[in-house]
Amino acid sequence: MNDNLHQLRCFGCGTRIGGAQAQPDFRCAQCGELFEVEYPGWLERRGHDRPNPGALKWLWRERRSSGEALGQPGLDQSGVWRFRELLPILNSFGSAVTLREGNTPLYHLPRAARALGVDQLYAKHQGMNPTASFKDTGMTAAMSVARERGFAWVACASTGNTSASMAAYAARAGLRSLVLIPEGKIAWGKLSQAMDYGAVTCQLKTDFDGCLRVLTEIVREHPIYLLNSVNPYRLEGQKTPAFEIAEAFDWNIPDHVIVPGGNLGNSSALGKGFREMVELGLAARMPHISVIQAEGANPLVRSLAASRGEKLEPVEAHTRATAIRIGNPASWRKAAKAIQSTGGWCLDVSEAEIAIAKAELGAEGLGCEPASAVTLAGLKKLCAQGVVAPADTVVLVLTGHTLKDADYTIDFHRGSLLTQEEAAGHEAEIASLRRDAVVVEAAPGAVVEAMKRASKAGLGDAWA
Ligand code: F0G
Repeated sequence: MNDNLHQLRCFGCGTRIGGAQAQPDFRCAQCGELFEVEYPGWLERRGHDRPNPGALKWLWRERRSSGEALGQPGLDQSGVWRFRELLPILNSFGSAVTLREGNTPLYHLPRAARALGVDQLYAKHQGMNPTASFKDTGMTAAMSVARERGFAWVACASTGNTSASMAAYAARAGLRSLVLIPEGKIAWGKLSQAMDYGAVTCQLKTDFDGCLRVLTEIVREHPIYLLNSVNPYRLEGQKTPAFEIAEAFDWNIPDHVIVPGGNLGNSSALGKGFREMVELGLAARMPHISVIQAEGANPLVRSLAASRGEKLEPVEAHTRATAIRIGNPASWRKAAKAIQSTGGWCLDVSEAEIAIAKAELGAEGLGCEPASAVTLAGLKKLCAQGVVAPADTVVLVLTGHTLKDADYTIDFHRGSLLTQEEAAGHEAEIASLRRDAVVVEAAPGAVVEAMKRASKAGLGDAWA
């Protein structure tokens, strides 16, 4: 491993160790906190010796359109590895395991923008990655390290997306993978992916936090490489969407970046990405990074309110946004720093607010999984509080594809998702968004009638 270029620094006590010296659970032997990758060379290099921001920006853009020959590792066409100067974690980039992740689209959201009075509103859709979630950008980085270090087995505990991503990248790397998931609490699309990509999949009779606890004990005893976001190399890959966002705005950083919060690796990684851009002179400032949780899985919201993020009390998590059904998030200290150091916000949203926001994104032609929709639900609250101003530029990070959890979407449109209690006060909004599939006779007249009925109910502009 290229310890000349990187080292690990404990986020709690500041202890520094070489990359290969980390314990199997990636906890500091001194204080138990997590590590962060740092590159000592960056700070030591001064003046002419520093990378030239303009040259780097040009190089990264050029690579994106490079015509690499078939059979090449595909580094330039990866939205992670085209920024490889900012993640020198491998001895040889030839050992990178890539599925051409990243380079995801940034979409304008005209309807939501109009409704909220924030014209510059965008979604960075990380669900458009090879396994349909943001996890791929981190997985390519950490799986490459696993391969370089000679591991035969990799493992993760997961609410579904990490397992899908890990299984795919392990298959590409020729490694075996072990997945621990909470029984009955993950979306079928994700489970099917882990199976398809050949993981050994164990459904444990516990929640995500219980799965991670069990897995931590296993990796302490067996030579298995842990690929949860406690692994600091995951975050090195997951910081690269920050570079892509900056690049899309010609390196003028947007005012707000809004992220869902579960185990809190993603918000931490994006915070690191933006911070490094400022340190290296690639950008002038950081955005406000805000984290949105589900009301029933909101330990960070509570921690910031109760102790300004000094302490975190785990909660028993409940939400239909199963991806973020996490009560004891591992990276909470890092995420708290990302929020506090950027002047961002952390708030929670209800089950009805999540379902409505998801349907609204669907109606924009995008769609996403429920956990991603918390970002739009959270933005509405930030606008109502006057924290986001009409002239601000806002980027919502959509973390997963709508097809990951089709059951949730169908239940919403059929009206069976929310309880009456959950929907109370939101009935009109929900009714205006629901689009159930109707059964009609196999005759043109019957179909045209169905269209007219929909149009009378305000569901089809062309027939108004
Ligand atoms: N959105 C989606 C779609 C997710 O799958 C996750 C996390 C998050 C948001 C939250 O991100 O944990 O970095 O704060 N999913 C993990 C998993 C826990 O196992 O797939 P985070």
